[in-house]
Amino acid sequence: MFEINDSLRGRDFVSIYDFSVEEIKYILEAGSEIKKLQKAGITHHYLAGKTLGMIFQKASTRTRVAFEVGMYQLGGHALFLSPRDIQLGRGETIKDTALVLGRMLDGIMIRTFDHEEVVELAKWSAVPVINGLTDLLHPTQIIGDLMTIKEHKGELKGLKLAFVGDGNNVANSLLYGGARVGMDVVIASPSGFEPDKEVLARAQKDAGQTGAKLSVVQDSEEAVAGADVIYTDVWASMGQEDQAEEKEKQFLKYQVNPRLLSLAKPDAIVLHCLPAKRGKEITDEVMDGPQSVVFEEAENRLHAHKAIMAVTM
Ligand code: CP
Ligand code: NVA
Repeated sequence: MFEINDSLRGRDFVSIYDFSVEEIKYILEAGSEIKKLQKAGITHHYLAGKTLGMIFQKASTRTRVAFEVGMYQLGGHALFLSPRDIQLGRGETIKDTALVLGRMLDGIMIRTFDHEEVVELAKWSAVPVINGLTDLLHPTQIIGDLMTIKEHKGELKGLKLAFVGDGNNVANSLLYGGARVGMDVVIASPSGFEPDKEVLARAQKDAGQTGAKLSVVQDSEEAVAGADVIYTDVWASMGQEDQAEEKEKQFLKYQVNPRLLSLAKPDAIVLHCLPAKRGKEITDEVMDGPQSVVFEEAENRLHAHKAIMAVTM
């Protein structure tokens, strides 16, 4: 069975940026090995007897199910902690929550709004904290995405990924991910909706190590020209529902439809972290078409999350 070493044991998984090129490679390898074990029906109880607490301040289908099922398949147990039910929702501080949960659990996953809450939780928790999405970053998504791209393209280094749409948490984490694996990432967003400036600057500084080229443009056609991977996400993320209607007008040129896809390489694949607003950022033809790998991508969240937990917890 694939041997998991202790090199990342005890580490928080808050941002892709916190992990070196080699460490990201190791997590991806663990993901694909764990996937093989599961597909072959081989028991892989790397986390026997361990418990993960999952705090969700926002909705989730994929992330919740992947962590919960993943923990079960690894021989452990996962607890869903809704803010409606735990004292965090009544004003208990993140610090006190971390100090308590760290004494009972072996790992904590949190999905929330303010990224600083995850940083604070990680600061005070005695056990690893996994970022299950914040307004700023979505790092576990990117591990599943990189696995998916690698499965289709063989190598990540030297590929070109074009992200078309809102410069959101997924776009930010893709910049960090691209920099680490040597994949060019171009983000095409309307003015005012670019990815986080600080994230871009840090990722660009980092990209030198692997030779990845990272850029932000406004023209979606320019972005997808010659791309190996087209990626999109909703125009209004969770927490921005009130901006959805206004944004739809500003994002019309950023729809991934057959015409835009035809400008990429003929063998380009299409990713979307999901959930999608069909007919808005992506059309049915593309999402259900032969170049779409969005459901494999969703499945890979399971294998990616298992890898993240198995190496850190
Ligand atoms: N992609 C993703 O994180 O999906 P959920 O919001 O359903 O977890
Ligand atoms: N950008 C989206 C991703 C959902 C998985 C959001 O934050 O709602």
